[in-house]
Amino acid sequence: MTMSRRTMVAGAGALMTLSGLHGRADAEPVRIPAGVDPDLLARDETVWRAVARRFRVSPEFVNLENGYYGIMPEPVRHAYHRNVDHLNKVNSHLLRTTYKAQADQVRQRIATLLGVTMEEIALTRGGTEALQNLIAGYRALRSGDAVMYADLDYHSMQYTMNWLRGRRGVHVEKLVIPEPATRQAVLDAYAHAFAAHPKVKLLLLSHMNNRTGLVTPVKEIIAMARTHGVDVIVDAAHSWGHLDFTIADLDAEFAGFSLHKWMGAPLGAGFLYIRKDRLADIDLVFADETYPAGDIRSRVHSGTMDVAPILTVGTALDFHDSLGAPVKQSRLRYLRDRWVHQVRHIPNLEILTPEEPAMYGTITAFRVSGRTSEADNVAISDYLMSRYRIFTVRRGGVTRGDCVRVTPALFTSAGDVDRLAAALHDVARRMRA
Ligand SMILES: Cc1ncc(COP(=O)(O)O)c(C=O)c1O
Repeated sequence: MTMSRRTMVAGAGALMTLSGLHGRADAEPVRIPAGVDPDLLARDETVWRAVARRFRVSPEFVNLENGYYGIMPEPVRHAYHRNVDHLNKVNSHLLRTTYKAQADQVRQRIATLLGVTMEEIALTRGGTEALQNLIAGYRALRSGDAVMYADLDYHSMQYTMNWLRGRRGVHVEKLVIPEPATRQAVLDAYAHAFAAHPKVKLLLLSHMNNRTGLVTPVKEIIAMARTHGVDVIVDAAHSWGHLDFTIADLDAEFAGFSLHKWMGAPLGAGFLYIRKDRLADIDLVFADETYPAGDIRSRVHSGTMDVAPILTVGTALDFHDSLGAPVKQSRLRYLRDRWVHQVRHIPNLEILTPEEPAMYGTITAFRVSGRTSEADNVAISDYLMSRYRIFTVRRGGVTRGDCVRVTPALFTSAGDVDRLAAALHDVARRMRA
């Protein structure tokens, strides 16, 4: 047994054993003892092999494309199947009797973890529904106002912002996130955009975008927006469960979240957040009468839907809690650092997140210099799959050109990202423009 496996320095020099991680049923969550240094733990492959055993993952390829949605850990998958079976057995009896209370328990757990109140949380089927309802429902826009978003924001959220043009008679401004995207460069880009577009009243802001993985300094940008009288809707679909933060860290008033990405819930779970004193600034959805106007649930009406994912959120949050947000964040960042630091020196390989830990999680895109077309980047991703059995995805919509996105997960090993790093040396040589 190695030192790192057996013991960890915890708190004021106390030694903690992690040997309890071994020999458990794979369907049980892994418990990380309190007080373990997350950065030390992030490097301990013995621990992460135990975590990886909690996931059933295809052995056919190395999956570095975990950005679309997350693979459920086994305890969650089992709970989900039980919930599907139960709903199918009892039919609407559950919906007509216990569901509201069960959904409220989920709202309460989310609220506690996010540092807000349950009355500020409404459940949705995912990040898209949450953000669409916030953007479409934002009431303060007047004809002639402007709204703004960035090139790196999620495509369907951009479409919803564009929809405001016809619906509310507003102008739409688009800013370009600079490359290299340092913290200062990003702040400067927003400062410049606010000054250049004084009619902007609403900003869509991605905490972590899905194209390059860049994490924006949300709190600072919101503070800047306030001085210009601009409200901000934060897209936190990719960041929660991935990075360690609460609403207070963002100082957000409106935000949309996904639970089926980094919280490991089944597909079909998300939520929106509206700060209590701002509820009246978001319209009821389609003049809904199910809940009173003072109840945030009147801002979402999904109709008859599969509630099994919602009923399973508690188990997903249990799994999240068993590792803890700081440990997840450290491991996910470590995996990104591990491959990036092996290839960063390659002259014709551009890494699209900066070396400032606050500016990235585990998602990081790369580009072979000069290879900016869709076809080039599809070819790179295809080559990684066919030659190395590594699954990645090409991403577009970045002003300076397309790229390939790499997204490890909690079950990814150090060996997996080392394999990517080795493959990228080959890719950079072959694809030299
Ligand atoms: C940045 C970002 N925002 C919003 C969404 C939409 O979230 P969902 O898939 O939960 O609808 C995604 C999905 O990938 C995303 O990456």
